[in-house]
Amino acid sequence: MIGRLVSNVAKRLPSVLYRESMMTKPQVVFVLGGPGAGKGTQCAKIVENYNYTHLSAGDLLRAERAREGSEFGQLIASFIKEGKIVPVEITINLLRKAMEETMQKDEQKYRFLIDGFPRNEDNLQGWNNVMDGKADVKFVLFFDCSNEVCIKRCLERGKSSGRTDDNRESLEKRIQTYLQSTRPIIELYEKHGKVRCVDASRSVEEVFADVQRILDKEG
Ligand code: ADP
Ligand code: C5P
Ligand code: MG
Repeated sequence: MIGRLVSNVAKRLPSVLYRESMMTKPQVVFVLGGPGAGKGTQCAKIVENYNYTHLSAGDLLRAERAREGSEFGQLIASFIKEGKIVPVEITINLLRKAMEETMQKDEQKYRFLIDGFPRNEDNLQGWNNVMDGKADVKFVLFFDCSNEVCIKRCLERGKSSGRTDDNRESLEKRIQTYLQSTRPIIELYEKHGKVRCVDASRSVEEVFADVQRILDKEG
């Protein structure tokens, strides 16, 4: 009886391992741009038209901030309001978990838009430490937009977003963080020919037409 049980389990085991080894490596597009450049808006349109899952680092951090019992809630709240970048140990765990959960539910869902990450050197190092070899970064989709347009859009969004950082004071800090910490990361990827730049100052539809051209070619 026991012997038969063990042999049945043994028979099933290889298929489980086989399935795991056959899981496709996550294919990742990093989505970057200034605050209010339209990352979230464009990602939503991509999801409607292509087989991608949208993971916004900012959304994941806001959810963690709101989660009852989170040991990081206070820290995240103050970093967001100050427009500073949360230590990557927190963010990478949220991203990794979200990716794993998505792929466990449906292994066909291995294409990810990771929006608002990596935003600084610490983010990039954290990604390399945890995800190197475990996911392929295809390219960076960069929504390029002047600071003035970014601020204007965020202030407009602030009328209804309820976000603690869509106000003039936080926005000035967010723009500084973007210029000082995020732009150098985009430039780093640029040097490796990995940036696909879109002029994000135009209408949502015009921007998306460019996004489609990029994704149809190499998405
Ligand atoms: P991000 O995720 O980059 O911060 P969002 O997608 O949330 O930006 O967009 C910021 C605000 O600007 C939102 O209120 C959105 O409706 C608006 N918006 C997004 N794209 C455009 C666009 N191309 N033209 C005008 N307004 C836009
Ligand atoms: O991308 P989003 O505008 O939603 O980000 C809001 C804020 O969340 C950022 O200004 C920053 O404080 C925090 N954040 C972060 N690290 C990331 C992404 C967002 O600390 N990688
Ligand atoms: Mg966003």
